[in-house]
Amino acid sequence: MRLDVITIFPDYLAPLDLSLIGKARREGLIDLRVHDLREHAHDRHRTVDDTPYGGGAGMVMKPEPWGEALDELAASGAEGAVPHLIIPGPGGIPFTQQTARDLAQEPWLAFACGRYEGIDERVYEEAAEGMPVSVISLGDYVLNGGEVAVLAMVEAIARLLPGVIGNEQSLVEESHEDGLLEYPVYTKPAVWRGREVPEILLSGNHGAIAKWRHEQRLQRTAARRPDLLSD
Ligand code: 6GU
Repeated sequence: MRLDVITIFPDYLAPLDLSLIGKARREGLIDLRVHDLREHAHDRHRTVDDTPYGGGAGMVMKPEPWGEALDELAASGAEGAVPHLIIPGPGGIPFTQQTARDLAQEPWLAFACGRYEGIDERVYEEAAEGMPVSVISLGDYVLNGGEVAVLAMVEAIARLLPGVIGNEQSLVEESHEDGLLEYPVYTKPAVWRGREVPEILLSGNHGAIAKWRHEQRLQRTAARRPDLLSD
């Protein structure tokens, strides 16, 4: 999968060199390219923002650097190929495990990181004439820009790609994969600071363990995320 990220803070994406995502990049499983939006700002101060029409607080990202950056990006692919453009923002549709699964099927994703009060609306309109565009939010809170959201989304998507996670089974039994939260896990020692591992887990009775784990998942989901059970 090809992934492009356009940002005014390329260094923010440095963690994508680490751990399993970094390894997947080095192995060529993902082709991740980070671009500096300021390369497309041509005045002396490489300005990317300006005051909002109509007044109000803060600054708005100017359309021209975004237009040029997205034109260049679209032209960099194979003949006729365009990326699915993701614009992270608190005003978007919610990012869920299903979103990650859907996006993991795509050959090419591009992320446009806004800062300040957002990107001039005409950038969204124009981009949507040439490529699929989705505005996606991590949740109901406000970040300073899209970069941290991209770190989260890229990790959630990339780990679903074949070969990125060594043990594919670990993708199946986890929170949100089937609508329930994960069961509690334990490792050695069997007693730690006087606390014992639940006896059932030492029983060797795999049927009973599976039943216990399922009950734990239901209890935990009811306690922490009752909204998931009513769906
Ligand atoms: Cl995707 N971006 C920003 N800036 N803030 C957010 C968000 C995204 N998701 C939740 N808050």
